[in-house]
Amino acid sequence: MTTKQNILVTGGLGFIGSHTVLCLNEAGYTPIIVDNLHNSRIEVLDALEDLLGYRPIYIQGDVNDVQLMSGLFNEYNPSAVIHFAAHKAVGESVEKPLMYYQNNVVGLISLLEVMKGMGCSKMVFSSSCTVYGEPEAVPVKESTPTRPAASPYGATKQMAEVILKDNSWCEVQCLRYFNPVGAHPSAKIGELPLGVPNNLIPYLTQTVAGIREKLTVYGGDYPTSDGTCIRDYIHVMDLAEAHVAAIDRLFNPNRIIASQEGDPSSENFEVFNIGTGVGYSVLEVIAAFESATDEKVNYAIGDRRAGDVVAVWADTNKVNNVLGWSAKRDLSTMMKDAWHWQQKC
Ligand code: NAD
Ligand code: UD1
Repeated sequence: MTTKQNILVTGGLGFIGSHTVLCLNEAGYTPIIVDNLHNSRIEVLDALEDLLGYRPIYIQGDVNDVQLMSGLFNEYNPSAVIHFAAHKAVGESVEKPLMYYQNNVVGLISLLEVMKGMGCSKMVFSSSCTVYGEPEAVPVKESTPTRPAASPYGATKQMAEVILKDNSWCEVQCLRYFNPVGAHPSAKIGELPLGVPNNLIPYLTQTVAGIREKLTVYGGDYPTSDGTCIRDYIHVMDLAEAHVAAIDRLFNPNRIIASQEGDPSSENFEVFNIGTGVGYSVLEVIAAFESATDEKVNYAIGDRRAGDVVAVWADTNKVNNVLGWSAKRDLSTMMKDAWHWQQKC
């Protein structure tokens, strides 16, 4: 019998981390969760226990705490790390840039120091399509040039990619997520936006639930088919499954690194777009929600939001062919699952 490999999941009680914990377990890995509860609740652990049938190993602590992290590596000897732990609110990052650089950049460096010292050299990293900024052409490929970051949050993801690429001892699967939405079909775990949500789907579901009065569609005069912005929304379970594919790939000694011109991938650092390859406008999302749930969305077209990109969606050829992963859940499923989760909140 082969022993199950331990995978350290930083930020494992968060939105994407908690869903990934389930998929890792399903694939035969043992997730070891570390989270400081900055943006999550301990109840997520109970929900995971319920879904897994056992209580997963969880250490409450901060990735920046070298002593705690070293102890954790000593005790559990993880074969790889999935590094979700970071702050992620774009607006907040403009107000508190030092907090973002400290947690997202210094935290990563601290984690890498511990990994190197402990002989762990495999990581899956949470990057974002925000690195592409406003692209010249869509869909974006991994080789599409990145643009100067529009916020400190975006800058932390760009810096993290450079740091990881430069540390050639560390084998990295760098996943550039598009717009993760939805929730586990059980509605036992999902996204927990603290305070007023900034993102479209939680704002929309809270509006339908009566928590918010009206959804404002940010701009109706963009150069798109219906005047509203276009994004590549991806179900969080599809995204979680992509992490398992990335972990599997790190353990495949025969993997051949594929790189087109302009793609930053190198021997130790592989970049993948994680999206569906399809873009939907804000109005299309609202229509999909209404038809999937039979609920009406109270919305109005308002002003554009500063910093919004007009249209971005992923070219998924590389991730489909090289990682062997593709998104399976459609927009209707994303909307249904997001709504079920909201109803249980
Ligand atoms: P989330 O806030 O739900 O989860 C992050 C988790 O990390 C939280 O549980 C938080 O408490 C924890 N955490 C933060 N700093 C920590 C630290 N120093 N030590 C220990 N735990 C810490 O966010 P998410 O949506 O699950 O995002 C996960 C990752 O994916 C982040 O790196 C984020 O930047 C990235 N990402 C998210 C999106 C998105 O739309 N959700 C898009 C692109 C990239
Ligand atoms: C935002 C961040 C991005 C980050 C991502 C994930 C900005 C500018 N970008 O992406 O860096 O990686 O979240 O956290 O903040 N919308 C409305 N009304 C709303 C909310 C949103 O019309 O109340 C529209 C937006 O204009 C956008 C789309 O819905 O066109 C999606 O918005 P959102 O969910 O905030 O994600 P992004 O802006 O794509």
